[in-house]
Amino acid sequence: MSVGAKVTEADLFARIEAAPFGEKTKALARRAAQVESIGGVAWGLFPATPVMVRGSGSLLYDADGKEYIDLLSGFSVSNFGNCHEKLTEAIRGQAGELTHFFDFPHPGRIRLAERLVSLTAIRGGRARVLFGTTGSDGIESAVRAVRYFTGKPYILTALGDYHGATFGTIGLTSRAGMNATYLPGGAGNAVGFFGFPHAYRAGLSAYGCSGMEALAELDRNLSGGFSPYADGSTLNVAAILAEPFQSSTGYYVPPRDYLRELRRICDKYGLLLIVDEVQTGLGRSGKLWAHEHSEIEPDILVTSKTLGGGLPLSAVVARAEILEQWIPTAHINTQAGNAVACAAGNAVLDMLEAPGFFEEVKRRGERFKKGLDAIAAGHPGLGYIDNEGLYLGLEFVSDPVKKTPAPEAVAAIRAEGLKRGLLLDHGGYYGNRIPLIPALNIPDELIDRTLSILKESMDEAWKKVKGKTI
Ligand SMILES: Cc1ncc(COP(=O)(O)O)c(C=O)c1O
Repeated sequence: MSVGAKVTEADLFARIEAAPFGEKTKALARRAAQVESIGGVAWGLFPATPVMVRGSGSLLYDADGKEYIDLLSGFSVSNFGNCHEKLTEAIRGQAGELTHFFDFPHPGRIRLAERLVSLTAIRGGRARVLFGTTGSDGIESAVRAVRYFTGKPYILTALGDYHGATFGTIGLTSRAGMNATYLPGGAGNAVGFFGFPHAYRAGLSAYGCSGMEALAELDRNLSGGFSPYADGSTLNVAAILAEPFQSSTGYYVPPRDYLRELRRICDKYGLLLIVDEVQTGLGRSGKLWAHEHSEIEPDILVTSKTLGGGLPLSAVVARAEILEQWIPTAHINTQAGNAVACAAGNAVLDMLEAPGFFEEVKRRGERFKKGLDAIAAGHPGLGYIDNEGLYLGLEFVSDPVKKTPAPEAVAAIRAEGLKRGLLLDHGGYYGNRIPLIPALNIPDELIDRTLSILKESMDEAWKKVKGKTI
């Protein structure tokens, strides 16, 4: 699949025909192909969309009853597996009490806000919460808040970051050239980009970054260089917006100094620092928030995805004064902070706060890493493994010395995985990555099964692409 290639309904039907699905699943996929937008993730992640009817823990079942190991976790939404009993119980209980009360506080929402404020170290100490529904909506709210607060328009963000695909966020999202391929939205006209540092791809990134030098360049640019406007007070930048680790673009973990340097630059030029923890947050990295690995305090944090335990919910946790600027009704959102989603959110925090939870995430991450290292020893094409807790990104290359990206190998491995019941994501600056996104409570037995199917899929894929790129 090449980026930007148009796909017709007839193409989708041909893909469904060729897919390794049973007849009932294919029949549902055909119905979707006729009525749903082609622009969604369903026809991009796999050639033909799988159609699941049931989920239990880290396992999913399609319409024909075929079992899959869920290594997508709804892009880190289902971090406690599918239909966790504690979440189901919280959702059922709240649905019978109060489902929705406009964008008004209610007991569960007040409790969730109090917990988010006490769990998050925000610069300045005192914080407030603004609830929303999705990650994009949280980012839009944060951007609107900092523009209003500072009176300045520009937002600076890293090349390769993903901050959403709505009209207000697409201009901030440069993952896989999304902001170049598709018309940027409203935020696109006051956005600047800087390079993202990464140990393996430093100097090779399509985005021109070269390790931490990318940040020295950002510093130089902000200082005005040769400009007569070198005085920081004339800057028209409101904030730096950063993912602590680059998730949707391929699960890249930057050096710890990345966020430290962004914090230093923000302090030097009087900018606000917004961390987008929509995908990295709530435990995946082995800490509650991924930015904690760098020991910095943001001015604003945006969280979503697993916060609602599978229901739509987002929260902007910000320095109190930033959210005290609004006059009542200045920023409203009918569906924000839904009562059922907040009940699930409190259950999510209960599980994250259980003693030893993060140690278990780290232990499972180490089990994955050990198995992956063993696979890599026999497969030089597995060139690099990013790993922090259960945040895992695999980089595939056809030449380990030249680090030549191997997107064909990735496509073949994922296809082999799908046949064997393993749902794998894809990504990478060059389409040559497989992020692994397991539930945070994935049982050891399924980690081992995942590793063995992955190895088998790699062996098979290697045979197929050998002679071409490997
Ligand atoms: C880091 C990050 N920010 C924002 C978003 C947008 O979230 P949503 O798709 O819920 O709007 C995503 C989604 O993948 C994300 O990974």
